[in-house]
Amino acid sequence: MLHIRHILFLLLICLAAMPSTAQRLKTNKKLLRTVAQSQQASAAQYKLLMQQLPLDRFPVTYYEKTRKLVTSGSEPWVGGFYPGALLYLYEGTKDTALFNEAMRKLGPMEKEQFNKTTHDLGFMMYCSFGNAKRIAPRPEYDQVLINSARSLCTRFSEKVGCIRSWDSDAARFMVIIDNMVNLELLFAATRLTGDSTYYKVAVTHANTTMQHHFRPDYSSHHLVIYNPATGAVSKKQTVQGASDSSAWARGQAWGLYGYTVMYRETKDKKYLDQANHIAQFILRHPNLPADKIPYWDFNAPGIPNAPRDVSAGAVICSALFELAKYVDGRTARTYFKAAESMLQAMCSPAYLAAAGTNGGFLLMHGVGNYPRNADIDVPLIYADYYFTEAMRRYQQW
Ligand code: GLY
Repeated sequence: MLHIRHILFLLLICLAAMPSTAQRLKTNKKLLRTVAQSQQASAAQYKLLMQQLPLDRFPVTYYEKTRKLVTSGSEPWVGGFYPGALLYLYEGTKDTALFNEAMRKLGPMEKEQFNKTTHDLGFMMYCSFGNAKRIAPRPEYDQVLINSARSLCTRFSEKVGCIRSWDSDAARFMVIIDNMVNLELLFAATRLTGDSTYYKVAVTHANTTMQHHFRPDYSSHHLVIYNPATGAVSKKQTVQGASDSSAWARGQAWGLYGYTVMYRETKDKKYLDQANHIAQFILRHPNLPADKIPYWDFNAPGIPNAPRDVSAGAVICSALFELAKYVDGRTARTYFKAAESMLQAMCSPAYLAAAGTNGGFLLMHGVGNYPRNADIDVPLIYADYYFTEAMRRYQQW
């Protein structure tokens, strides 16, 4: 006869063997097919785009009216997204033309490892060389990532507890929420070197940002200005948002993505709580449209006729697929379903450009910098990058 102790023991074994909520959430076969088709269509688009690019130029956006392709050198923050998106698409399609183009673009990016004039080295070097290392590792990539992290850390101030974002005024230590996404590079550098300095810089920056960038409702300011001599906060304001008190959509997306990475890398629950709070601010916001692709600012004037920002949507979608793995029960389902609905929208003709249009970019309807009247309702290379990442995250769920 089974003793009560045996029954309890068996029950415990059964519970331990049960899949977690995230494991039990199933991908939708139809959406998986749509994603595979979108990857094929995206590969064809990028083959058009690549024909227009000299070796040392990187795509930024395209203006439909004037049929103008806007490109940059390797030095602005967007340089790494094109090789990174090519690599994600290569993983999904196994089309070697994409892989070869990505490899070709790493050459002119490489020198940026020594660039100490920007905080964007995570975007630039981790999205490019980080993905290259993941897919087709070469020892020289490790050194590029380490050098990039070293350059990024030269911008860290012990006094402020942050990495400086912008250099335009030495008397004002400026930090934008976007900077959270540069920290992933630092964790990679600590893994590669065993040196915890990079890790500590990332944690300190994330803690300071958590303390000063966020409002009580967990929306975030875009820019916090610190006194470099004392570390005191002197101003909180926006540059790319609708107002100092508004929630700029891509800023909220960078925060969500950044604190999700912070939890992945440290397993410190305070970062998971922060990511959850940000996710809830976004998903419960009354101005979030039905397809969950946000307006360019959650408080944009003119809603519901304000432009959407698909780049914010793509970053949020990709982050939610990751965050859903770290939370339990209904929360995981909420994030997963929201991300699925965003992915579905981005794979539809409402956002995914028809073959041969959009200058060869994948997604339509991004907003670069609304207050400056720059890049409104256009394709954006960073929207494409996080879209290709979200597609892979869904396929690999
Ligand atoms: N990091 C610049 C932007 O999000 O526009």
